[in-house]
Amino acid sequence: MFRGELRVYPDLESLSQAAAESLAEIAAAAITERSWFSLGLSGGETPRALFRRLRQEYQKRIPWLRVEIFWVDERYVSHQDPRSNYALAKNQWIANSPIPRENVHPAPTEVATPAEAAQQYERVLRAHFLREWPRFDLVLLGLGADCHTASLFPHSPALTEEKQWVVATEAPAEPPQRLTLTLPVINHACNVHFLVSGERKAEALRRVLEDEPDAMACPASAVTPVEGRAVWWVDEAAASKLSRERG
Ligand code: 6PG
Repeated sequence: MFRGELRVYPDLESLSQAAAESLAEIAAAAITERSWFSLGLSGGETPRALFRRLRQEYQKRIPWLRVEIFWVDERYVSHQDPRSNYALAKNQWIANSPIPRENVHPAPTEVATPAEAAQQYERVLRAHFLREWPRFDLVLLGLGADCHTASLFPHSPALTEEKQWVVATEAPAEPPQRLTLTLPVINHACNVHFLVSGERKAEALRRVLEDEPDAMACPASAVTPVEGRAVWWVDEAAASKLSRERG
């Protein structure tokens, strides 16, 4: 059963602007309440427009010295590789922002094996969050046409992980080796925002929001925050297969 909020916008630019504004509001509230705003970033193409807006329009709006940035998932490639999620966020936004370098926590990808890198990143997260489960103030997620999210792909053993915070996975896409936060981590976030754009995602979005999909076949449907809120920021093309009362 879909629990969350669906917000539909004409296009990627307008949904990105609205999502950026919401991020700024969540950041301001978190910093007021807890002095810090912890943010988890996904990669892929969709968040580019959001990153660009954060660079261009939010330099002064958000107290960046109080922001901690982590990655929801990472491709197991060098941070200089254009396929790296860290490289995407760095080049589109972080390199031109006042965020202190010590507040930016990329997933390690130059460790001997992805499994060891996952363990190392988990230690970074545990050193920061110091709780049973990390409570990110905001996790940004995308949606694949196959209903994957983060680097949690259909029928992946990572979908049943109940203890580890970070695991190494194999993607059915290049590059195959990935690191990803696990579902319990994502589901303990205070806010989970999905950014979904384009006709290519319409069937996946319909499956997640309107079917009773099996989490193994449709991982994004397993994102059901324990206490937090899920908001879907989508454009009309992605919403084009939703039933009338939703779209
Ligand atoms: C990644 C992302 C992944 C992404 C979806 C959607 O590492 O690729 O974290 O989960 O969010 O694949 O990607 P697009 O935005 O490129 O469609």
